[in-house]
Amino acid sequence: MKILITGGAGFIGSNFIHYWTRKYPTDTIVNLDKLTYAGNLENLRAVEKLPNYKFIQGDIADEKLVEKLFSEEQFDLVVHFAAESHVDRSILDPDAFIQTNIVGTHNLLRAALKSKTRFHHVSTDEVFGSLQKTDPAFNEKTPYDPRSPYSASKAASDHLVRAYFHTYGLPITISNCSNNYGPYHFPEKLFPLFITNLLEDKKIPVYGDGTSVRDWLYVEDHCSAIDCIIRKGQIGETYCVGGNSEKTNKEFTTKILVLLGKGDEMIEYVTDRPGHDHRYAIDATKIKNELDWEPSVTFEEGLERTVKWFRENEAWWKSIKSGEYQDYYKKQYGK
Ligand code: NAD
Ligand code: DAU
Repeated sequence: MKILITGGAGFIGSNFIHYWTRKYPTDTIVNLDKLTYAGNLENLRAVEKLPNYKFIQGDIADEKLVEKLFSEEQFDLVVHFAAESHVDRSILDPDAFIQTNIVGTHNLLRAALKSKTRFHHVSTDEVFGSLQKTDPAFNEKTPYDPRSPYSASKAASDHLVRAYFHTYGLPITISNCSNNYGPYHFPEKLFPLFITNLLEDKKIPVYGDGTSVRDWLYVEDHCSAIDCIIRKGQIGETYCVGGNSEKTNKEFTTKILVLLGKGDEMIEYVTDRPGHDHRYAIDATKIKNELDWEPSVTFEEGLERTVKWFRENEAWWKSIKSGEYQDYYKKQYGK
């Protein structure tokens, strides 16, 4: 297969490229990525010299570039990861989220339609909104109720992808996944921010009272779920993907402090995120029953692997934290 991967220099996209090139070494991969602050070619050093891998720096919202790419290359499949992905950034500055997540996705759909290219759209559980403690977990039938500019833009992109299936017959699938963690996770998100801050002996900023809940999935399991949907999923269908691993932020914080040998004095409770979604949880029954997919890495195992990776790859995260990222951190935390 010849596959167009968008956003392949980001966290999940780069993990997916590593996963795919290991599992399907004869496939050809074209990685289209704008290299925003979140895109990092260091994530792809191990594959960059492969003869069947090609990187193109470009914006999915650039209509001409996308059209030209599709007319020059005959793709069998598009796996669409490219997005502005950080909720806090979407609160500070939503414009880029509309441009990339909505306009960019639409450009890709329009181009894919010309060749009727199979299109897998990588989306999020955040489109379903926020759960209370005793609410049942999200599933494929949960109504959309996005509450941040990020989740609203992802919801819009999901609707467009489905519209291209129903209206024009584009062969699509969608996955709505819970919170990922693992190698190459950009250190502005909870997991890598807390690990790297503690490794640097810095405090860790817990929003509000730390009772918000996320359902964590090791990134390699997300990659295997997407693989499964691509191979066995039904065209036009959506699959919810989760880790069966709900944790409050406080629970996560306690575990990470223990693993890194630090005490509670490292916690700094800071102002809550505006409109903070209280709880996400995924009911992954459909993908389990229909496609025989389940997560293979437990939270404890994934956490240990991730901490080990960050310990062993200090140069990777230190160069990010000392760069342009600092401006955002100052805006967000005021120091
Ligand atoms: P990320 O922010 O780490 O990476 C995004 C990548 O997209 C970067 O390489 C960036 O350079 C690229 N990009 C951004 N705008 C672009 C544009 N206009 N044109 C081309 N490339 C562009 O994001 P991530 O965490 O890897 O998330 C990938 C996808 O998975 C997103 O669609 C996100 O909504 C979805 N998702 C993420 C999670 C999670 O926990 N991180 C969970 C579920 C779904
Ligand atoms: O659920 C899937 C989503 O998970 C993806 O669609 C998003 O792209 C991804 O960024 C992630 O969104 P969250 O907002 O859940 O992730 P984040 O790491 O930003 O925050 C996780 C939780 O931790 C959330 O309750 C807010 C809290 N938090 C976050 C940061 C960055 C803190 O308490 N302190 C922090 O410094």
